[in-house]
Amino acid sequence: MDFAASDLEAAGHRIPAGAGLDPACGDGVFLEEIRGWCGRLVGVDLDPDVLVGPVTAELSVGDGLEDDGRRYAVVVGNPPFGRERIGPFVRRFVSAAMPGGVVAVLLPESWFASRRDAETRNWALQHARCVSVTSVYGRDFLRTGTRARTCWSVWVRRDRPLSSVDDVDGDPPVLMRQPRDEEDHELAAAPGSRAFEVEVETAELRMAGRWDPRFYDPLWDDPLTSCVLPVRPLGEFVHDIVYGALGRGVRPRPHEGAGGFLYVGQKTLTEAGIVPARCPRIVDERPFVQERYTLRPGDLVVPRSGMGTLGKNLLTRWDGVPADCNAEGAVVDCFDDRVSLEGISSAWVLGVLRTEPGWWQIRRVITGVAQPNLSFKQIRALSMPVPSAAVQEEAERRWAEVRSGTQPFEHLRQLVRQACSGAA
Ligand SMILES: C[S@@+](CC[C@H](N)C(=O)[O-])C[C@H]1O[C@@H](n2cnc3c(N)ncnc32)[C@H](O)[C@@H]1O
Repeated sequence: MDFAASDLEAAGHRIPAGAGLDPACGDGVFLEEIRGWCGRLVGVDLDPDVLVGPVTAELSVGDGLEDDGRRYAVVVGNPPFGRERIGPFVRRFVSAAMPGGVVAVLLPESWFASRRDAETRNWALQHARCVSVTSVYGRDFLRTGTRARTCWSVWVRRDRPLSSVDDVDGDPPVLMRQPRDEEDHELAAAPGSRAFEVEVETAELRMAGRWDPRFYDPLWDDPLTSCVLPVRPLGEFVHDIVYGALGRGVRPRPHEGAGGFLYVGQKTLTEAGIVPARCPRIVDERPFVQERYTLRPGDLVVPRSGMGTLGKNLLTRWDGVPADCNAEGAVVDCFDDRVSLEGISSAWVLGVLRTEPGWWQIRRVITGVAQPNLSFKQIRALSMPVPSAAVQEEAERRWAEVRSGTQPFEHLRQLVRQACSGAA
């Protein structure tokens, strides 16, 4: 609540006179917090066993989603986090506020980050102005019994709804922060990380479709801002990008004996390349085997989604069918992208994407969402430092050593770090 009060003050907003509501108040912890803000307090909860609150509060057992017809100066609380319940609760919190009224609500971080919640998020943005979003951890709210990552957000109900969410561009910037509490925040515990507070323009928030503070951590920009190399969008070097056949109920037929195609999936990716022995061998037939899914030497294989692969930075490069493998070729499956590059060493690009300057851009995109994934558009938009031809040749040489097992991947990473810092 201290954040809410100071953020409203910084935004020059005065809380109007009127009552305060928590539509899912439980033991009334939030009503207690806004006692100094509102004359009358109203608390509703479905569960009579948990319903408590300040002695002066009007408490009732009931469905907090039901509109009681009243409009409140402050609507506060942490609604239940079930996916299907969040949307209705957000609408209730915002609708219950009077014009100029304040909504202070704790929601799952994913609600601010995911495309799945874009509809209610946009609805909320049309009806209320977002003042601040503060990432906190579930354990800061132990009584809720949740360990999910959450964000505390402060909103002001608009006098009139915006006709389109694009109009939020006219709103003042939103304060995004993670409190500077070393112990409570995972990022603060990570090497080189720190808590932060930034103001982000609403146009930027809308275009990125991301309202979670983690996405705007200045940390993500650091490796690139300190990079001495010219930087180009990776899309300028992308010749082709495609994922494998979906199959739609049909599975690839196994191929017995020599020949056939290697079916490259996420389980076959390692730091030192793709392990042919782990790839199922499939019959050369559509839809799985087609020219466009066929890997060419130098193509990158990028997992489309998944915490254990994309989330662990497990992308790699294909370098051709080994001579002793006796396969006609290799194709990607539908969970992996084949990224074909031209005009740049793909060993260099692989090195960058698996070192801070590239990986942190990917982390920024996938952070805070339950199921990390990377779209073609996001891959093309990645900023790629471009070194001299000599450094690119060195990247190819080092990747060959990584593949042969004579050097760890770190060897290629060191080249990236040196070249980006001007030392190579
Ligand atoms: C996450 S808890 C928050 C309670 C309290 N603020 C706390 O921190 O302990 C959510 C509360 O919502 C209540 N609840 C769930 N569905 C409800 C509904 N439709 N109407 C009112 N309360 C509801 C639950 O009983 C629970 O007490």
